[in-house]
Amino acid sequence: MSAQKKSVLVLGARSDIARAIAAEFARKGYNIMLAGRDTGWLDRDASDMSLRFQIETTVHKFDALDLDGHEAFFDALPTVPSIVVCAVGLLGDQEADVQDPAAVRRIIDTNFTGPAHALEVAARRLAATEDDTAIVGIGSVAGDRGRAKNYLYGAAKAGFGEYLSGMRQKYVQSRLHVMTVKPGFVATAMTEGMDLPGPLTSTPEKFAKNVVRALDKRRMVYYDLRWRVLMGVITHLPERIFVRTKF
Ligand SMILES: NC(=O)c1ccc[n+]([C@@H]2O[C@H](COP(=O)([O-])OP(=O)(O)OC[C@H]3O[C@@H](n4cnc5c(N)ncnc54)[C@H](OP(=O)(O)O)[C@@H]3O)[C@@H](O)[C@H]2O)c1
Repeated sequence: MSAQKKSVLVLGARSDIARAIAAEFARKGYNIMLAGRDTGWLDRDASDMSLRFQIETTVHKFDALDLDGHEAFFDALPTVPSIVVCAVGLLGDQEADVQDPAAVRRIIDTNFTGPAHALEVAARRLAATEDDTAIVGIGSVAGDRGRAKNYLYGAAKAGFGEYLSGMRQKYVQSRLHVMTVKPGFVATAMTEGMDLPGPLTSTPEKFAKNVVRALDKRRMVYYDLRWRVLMGVITHLPERIFVRTKF
């Protein structure tokens, strides 16, 4: 089977980061498939993107939590995409969520189980083509070390990051490339209302440019240099010191 050249499927396409990444690929001439829960909203975005970039766009209903529906979701796509980007994620409210079993499951499944399974299904299909293909999974620096502020979300992102790492190794001899993206702070709906430190905060547009550039260079992990340095320090602190810090 042959993947249609130059098409990108975006899972969780209503995310601000996803939209900026989709626009970046559209600017480079890729056709875009937008997938998410609110297809009415995505329809409007797709029309706008088609007009702005003179590309083909399609919209597809996708729920990361509907694991049983993932095969059928990919079956229904107009073509096998050459690149699949997964931006699905949910930060939640750590203090409230850890006291609610349904919320615990929702955070773990939205950040780990659902995206991991969807990308597993995608990987089999992309690897079966005879083309160069890629999977881009968006994790988080929160997965680098468990912190009191967000360890439920962080643990799920850590699991997702390790899943992608294993998938990358599995497909390393094939034409399917797997890239992990680890954002620090990006000013989006997810971080709205937070007091973000300017020098460590990116815009979705700037971040998206770097992600696409990193994929062009076949990077395995995209991690902003400032965050790599900061998290390098945090992850190397001995546990006994780390637990007393305010990180
Ligand atoms: N912004 C940051 O500082 C930051 C930092 C680290 C990591 N990240 C990660 O970057 C990614 C994009 O985040 P963002 O900042 O752009 O936030 P966002 O705008 O809140 O995007 C999250 C997206 O996930 C989608 N989603 C949630 N549950 C879903 C489900 N069950 N099925 C399908 N889609 C679902 C949401 O869809 P709906 O529109 O339908 O709700 C939304 O479009 C996320 O994975 C996030 O964890 C962001």
